[in-house]
Amino acid sequence: MSHPLDAIPPHGGHLINRVCPPSQREEFLDKAGHLPRVQLDDRAFSDLVMIAIGGFSPLTGFMEQADYDRVVNEMHLINGLPWSIPITLSVTEEVAAPLKEGGLIRLDDFTGRFVGVLELTQKYQYDKLHEALHVYRTNEEQHPGVQVVYNQGAVNLAGSVWLLQRDSDPRFPSYQIDPAESRVLFKDKGWKTIVGFQTRNPIHRAHEYIIKCALETVDGLFLHPLVGATKEDDIPADVRMRCYEIILEHYFPKDRVILAINPAAMRYAGPREAIFHALVRKNYGCTHFIVGRDHAGVGDYYGTYDAQYIFDEFDSAALGITPMKFEHAFYCLRTQQMATTKTSPSSREERVHLSGTKVREMLRRGELPPPQFSRPEVAAELASAMQIKELSYDI
Ligand code: ADX
Repeated sequence: MSHPLDAIPPHGGHLINRVCPPSQREEFLDKAGHLPRVQLDDRAFSDLVMIAIGGFSPLTGFMEQADYDRVVNEMHLINGLPWSIPITLSVTEEVAAPLKEGGLIRLDDFTGRFVGVLELTQKYQYDKLHEALHVYRTNEEQHPGVQVVYNQGAVNLAGSVWLLQRDSDPRFPSYQIDPAESRVLFKDKGWKTIVGFQTRNPIHRAHEYIIKCALETVDGLFLHPLVGATKEDDIPADVRMRCYEIILEHYFPKDRVILAINPAAMRYAGPREAIFHALVRKNYGCTHFIVGRDHAGVGDYYGTYDAQYIFDEFDSAALGITPMKFEHAFYCLRTQQMATTKTSPSSREERVHLSGTKVREMLRRGELPPPQFSRPEVAAELASAMQIKELSYDI
């Protein structure tokens, strides 16, 4: 299938690169001792990296108030481009007070390592409840994304950022592929249409089914698991990566898939995060993006297909990436294959929907989830990881 565009342009037209050139890095290193310092948490560090490598193009930094307000209220940046999640750096009033607009701030990661610089243009107060209700559609602090907002400082610091240097992720160095690189890879492979798949779980049969349905109509799959901060009870990224390697080795044609890590943090913002996830994959060069059931959801905060309906609220040309929407998939006992209600005549009793809780209980008892739910090689890997650390299987 060919696409009208040779390569899909990044959001906003060009790929942002805010990784310091060597001369600038030297300059910042010289100044470091004299700059005021702000420590980043996991999520802010991920955001800094995503901005710097162009994953969040057209953003060049943490949002100023005008963009923040427009994103929270209307899901667009002030330049008119769709954008659904606020990207902010929050600090307490005490930390913010001495910081001067117009000055440089040294950004340290959570270990105290100097990792970046913020060109501070603005400090502003914001309304946490308003952000929670609009972005997460709830004010309940049990929601993991809302909890993060409630725990943030009261002041947002805004301005363009620089990442001092792009270090390779020591956990998965061979899977670190930044947007500039994935774009070249797609081109080298001659792929014109590429579908991006976001996941924060090991790949089960329903994932495999929807991915393969998509792969029947596009040139390549960009398997792009999120490895930034997730909630405590999600399966750790290293275990998931082993499961992805295993499933690719046994169940996918090697030349149709690229596996790469997405360094971003998970927000659990359901529909709004689906838009955000799609835009990020557009920046990596994907032309299509899979949105299944309850994409990026948590608990029962969102309707099963809310993350699909939200795409109708945007001008599709402005989004610039095509969602591929899939219904809730299950194993059909009648046709003995994966299916959805669109493709199977089964009654409810003939559909195997395994719940996360059930799988967790089975793994705990030392039983493997049945092959209708999980490929045996993946189940075995999960079971062995389970002996090392108790895992929750949030699916
Ligand atoms: S998340 O980012 O959406 O939280 P997850 O790993 O749970 O990641 O799901 C990855 C993708 O698969 C999402 O688009 C989700 O909607 C879709 N998905 C997960 N399970 C199913 C299923 N049983 N049927 C259809 N789509 C599914």
